[in-house]
Amino acid sequence: MLKIDKLTKAFGANKAVDSVSLDFDRPMMIGIIGASGAGKSTLLRMLNRLENATSGSITFDGRDVTALHGADKRRWQRDCAMIFQQFNLVPRMDVVSNVLHGTLNRRSTLATMFNLYPSEDIHRAIDILDRLGIAGHAAKRAEALSGGQQQRVAIARAIMQDPQIVLADEPIASLDPMNAQIVMDDLRRIHDEDGRMVIANLHTLDTARRYCDRVVGMRAGRVVFDGTPEQLTTGVARDIYGADASFSEAATSTSIDALNAATSTPVPVA
Ligand SMILES: Nc1ncnc2c1ncn2[C@@H]1O[C@H](COP(=O)(O)OP(=O)(O)OP(=O)(O)O)[C@@H](O)[C@H]1O
Ligand SMILES: [Mg+2]
Repeated sequence: MLKIDKLTKAFGANKAVDSVSLDFDRPMMIGIIGASGAGKSTLLRMLNRLENATSGSITFDGRDVTALHGADKRRWQRDCAMIFQQFNLVPRMDVVSNVLHGTLNRRSTLATMFNLYPSEDIHRAIDILDRLGIAGHAAKRAEALSGGQQQRVAIARAIMQDPQIVLADEPIASLDPMNAQIVMDDLRRIHDEDGRMVIANLHTLDTARRYCDRVVGMRAGRVVFDGTPEQLTTGVARDIYGADASFSEAATSTSIDALNAATSTPVPVA
């Protein structure tokens, strides 16, 4: 379905992504983990063509994504919607209009200039907001919402594009544990109920283990782990993060788990 072959991105002498090959044969929920600078964001940005690869290829359903131009490239970008750590909403614009921005790629410039949206799009936007539990905020300005609510608006905007793949770059890094859990639950539902592939860069091990079907570990631009959450042992994690003996799982925990089991204490690696 999605096949990444020897994908490389060099910035000068630095290979941010270094010959990464991955094969996903069905829509899954995939977590990408790794230390800061490992190349996680660069990999996602190449996937939706925000960044051009230096070499290698990305194939989706047999089509070479790296070779797309113009309208075909824009269609691909609609097919793989992106969610960011900082939400990237228009702060002063109301929530529904922010969600409707997800249809921008297929509307005329004129319609966009005058903020003219077909009523079926407006209804769909509100339905999506309702599904995410935030329809009550539809008329508010985005900036009036909490971080967790804003991230759910960003998810709604992504769903509005009706994408096959949802890419999320550290979607919960700016959220408290409660909102982090709500947002991860939403992403999981988007996979479970809609059958969309979700690929999320996550900065914490526990979140990857808990929510993902498959976890990819990156280190210095390379894939050093690709397996199930069960295979992601503490030893493997230590290798991914390149940590020394002082490595502790607690250092890579968002404490979503702690929220549910207040008694469990992460065990440091001796
Ligand atoms: N536009 C750029 N120009 C030059 N170097 C870049 C650029 N973008 C990323 N890099 C470099 O590429 C490497 C990978 O960066 P990337 O942002 O993909 O890492 P990351 O795994 O997402 O890290 P983080 O967890 O901090 O978000 C880093 O060494 C970074 O400095
Ligand atoms: Mg990043």
